[in-house]
Amino acid sequence: MRAHVSFARISRSLGPQISTKRRGMSSFIRKVTATASTSTADNPPPASHFEQFMGEEWERNGINSELYRGLSAGRVRQHVNPLTTHLQVPAQPPDWNATFSDTSKPLVLDIGCGYGRFLLALAQRMPTHNMLGLEIRDPVIERANAWAERLQLHKQVLFLSANATISVETILNTPSSSPPYPGLIDLVAIQFPDPHFKKKHKKRRTVQPNLILTLANIMKPGGRVFLQSDVVEVAEDMRNQFERHGGDAFTLCHELHNTTDEGCVFYQSSSSASREQQEEEETDDNNNSSSSSSNKNNKDDGDEWQSQWVGGGWLVRNPIEVPTEREVLNISQHKPVYRVMLVRN
Ligand SMILES: C[S@@+](CC[C@H](N)C(=O)[O-])C[C@H]1O[C@@H](n2cnc3c(N)ncnc32)[C@H](O)[C@@H]1O
Repeated sequence: MRAHVSFARISRSLGPQISTKRRGMSSFIRKVTATASTSTADNPPPASHFEQFMGEEWERNGINSELYRGLSAGRVRQHVNPLTTHLQVPAQPPDWNATFSDTSKPLVLDIGCGYGRFLLALAQRMPTHNMLGLEIRDPVIERANAWAERLQLHKQVLFLSANATISVETILNTPSSSPPYPGLIDLVAIQFPDPHFKKKHKKRRTVQPNLILTLANIMKPGGRVFLQSDVVEVAEDMRNQFERHGGDAFTLCHELHNTTDEGCVFYQSSSSASREQQEEEETDDNNNSSSSSSNKNNKDDGDEWQSQWVGGGWLVRNPIEVPTEREVLNISQHKPVYRVMLVRN
């Protein structure tokens, strides 16, 4: 099937480990389905079912439960408002030479990395790359770095406390004080960002025009941006913003969004999938205007801009083949995920 060829191709560009060990999302999904189908209403799963599933899933991805022993992040706030005054100071870059054992390796940047398991799992499959996770909640970062050390990955993986929306430029493209990251930025992942549903809170979303312009600036042709969310409206917003503000620099990855390959992509729009969410949002805002549609997403801006990328659909599978924490949760609950892969022109 062409789709497999495409995945292998993209995997090759991200490192040999992925293409040789193809433990794809399909088998992952099959396993979840099989696990979930054993429970019925009369025979509910034990309380630990989900934890057990998560544990097994991460163990399969090289993250053993031993890792957590004695390390707690303490009390972690569920959500942070990135517009809070003290979060308006861009984070500074680390000393790259003191951080990574080989700074010439290409970089994978995970924006809003959460607890970091995605990069820790990916690093084990891709020793060819360095990994940088940016996360706005401090306690989470401290523990993620401790996990990296326990896994002996601390010379390949770094988690930094940062408001990524305003810090990517200073961290990776430092104009004066310290040198920029020496290697290529090969893959940028923005996965399941906080949705900030209310219209008045859209400015809190991680993907903003300045972030897109920075990525366009620091990435070289062939670099990839992977976007995914379980909220179709958020996925659309990310995709549309990249198209609107970075459309000259980025394009949909045609290999993956090849609409002639059956089963490769699917179509869903916010107008059909998240009507309930939107109604909630509109009620909250006392706003009775009609909801946005998948390709006309800029009524706020007062124009009729239309997405061309909408035609590329959403990727059925995760081409990176390593799930994030949120993704594991979603798959265990059979929730759809909306994904696009972009390429720097
Ligand atoms: C829903 S979680 C998803 C985490 C992870 N990407 C995953 O897929 O499992 C979103 C994460 O983004 C972080 N976050 C939100 N805004 C951020 C920002 N401006 N900069 C960096 N991290 C941010 C949140 O603290 C949270 O950990």
